[in-house]
Amino acid sequence: MKLSEKSQNKIGMPLVGFGTYQLSVEQAESCVNEALKAGFRHIDSAEGYNNEEGTGKGIKASGINRDELFVTTKVFPGFKQWGAPDKDFKTTIETLKKQLIQLQLDHVDLYLIHAPLSELRLEQWEALIELKKMGLTKHIGVSNYNIEALNEIFDADLTKPEANQIEFHPLCNRTELTQFMIDNAINPIAYSSLAPLSTWRTEEGQGGNVLFEVKKDCQSVTREISKRLGVSEAKLLLRWGLQQGYAVLTKSSKPERIKENLNLFDFELSNEDMIHLNKLNQNQPIAWAANGLNPMEEAPPLKK
Ligand SMILES: NC(=O)c1ccc[n+]([C@@H]2O[C@H](COP(=O)([O-])OP(=O)(O)OC[C@H]3O[C@@H](n4cnc5c(N)ncnc54)[C@H](OP(=O)(O)O)[C@@H]3O)[C@@H](O)[C@H]2O)c1
Repeated sequence: MKLSEKSQNKIGMPLVGFGTYQLSVEQAESCVNEALKAGFRHIDSAEGYNNEEGTGKGIKASGINRDELFVTTKVFPGFKQWGAPDKDFKTTIETLKKQLIQLQLDHVDLYLIHAPLSELRLEQWEALIELKKMGLTKHIGVSNYNIEALNEIFDADLTKPEANQIEFHPLCNRTELTQFMIDNAINPIAYSSLAPLSTWRTEEGQGGNVLFEVKKDCQSVTREISKRLGVSEAKLLLRWGLQQGYAVLTKSSKPERIKENLNLFDFELSNEDMIHLNKLNQNQPIAWAANGLNPMEEAPPLKK
């Protein structure tokens, strides 16, 4: 398929989205506005980012029509190890209603369970099915779900998730999970595509330097290819995700990078370059490393 900036996946999601993790309320307002002015039409938010009021203000300030936008947000499911209580059916429904007030929207386009961290995840999934029926979200999905967690939903004979948002970059190229999602018509969405960069999330406590050694080989390959193609390493990594069939998310607090990250359609990676990048896989997720956990491997047993 020829990719263009107007390309969407099967749920109408523009393939490049602006992520809002790690932005303060004030930054979320200015960066979301900036991103929408630059041409982004897909915003990725979450209850856990604690900045949805700013995201809502940024959307409003942009003046872009609601029907031109694709807005995703996520419910934080609760996590015992962090002292966060598990959400049940009712509190999951109430959470989206509260988020919509913050976002100044009457519905979102996609609502996700942020990670399978709660023993009540099937009850939470039933709440998402209800929220879709109520018209408060157009589509429903999950994030950080592995094949096992997806199978729990299928085994319970519940509506299938329409999307799964996962960490995905050349160091964490989840071939088996990707194939499973394709086979089950689950739209894949990549987060932390820029994780192989040495400069990724270098702020205090964000784990940017944690895997310095792990990233080294990958960086020498991305440096060589990006130099040859005359594009930045950031664009190369985002384009790799697109050519794997994923929608990609990218966050920046800097106007020039916001523009750069959207401009992914004026070059292409050859099969040889894709194969070279694919060989770097170490199945190494790092986005949640600063929190000391891998969200895909933390699912507690389901509550009976
Ligand atoms: N579902 C989940 O569990 C989950 C987890 C993580 C992320 N996400 C979502 O995915 C989005 C993206 O993931 P992420 O936060 O890890 O961000 P990312 O887009 O992979 O990387 C962001 C980092 O890269 C830098 N950066 C951005 N553009 C750049 C460029 N062109 N050149 C060099 N550096 C650049 C940013 O710094 P500056 O801001 O200084 O530019 C920041 O340090 C998040 O915002 C969030 O919406 C979801």
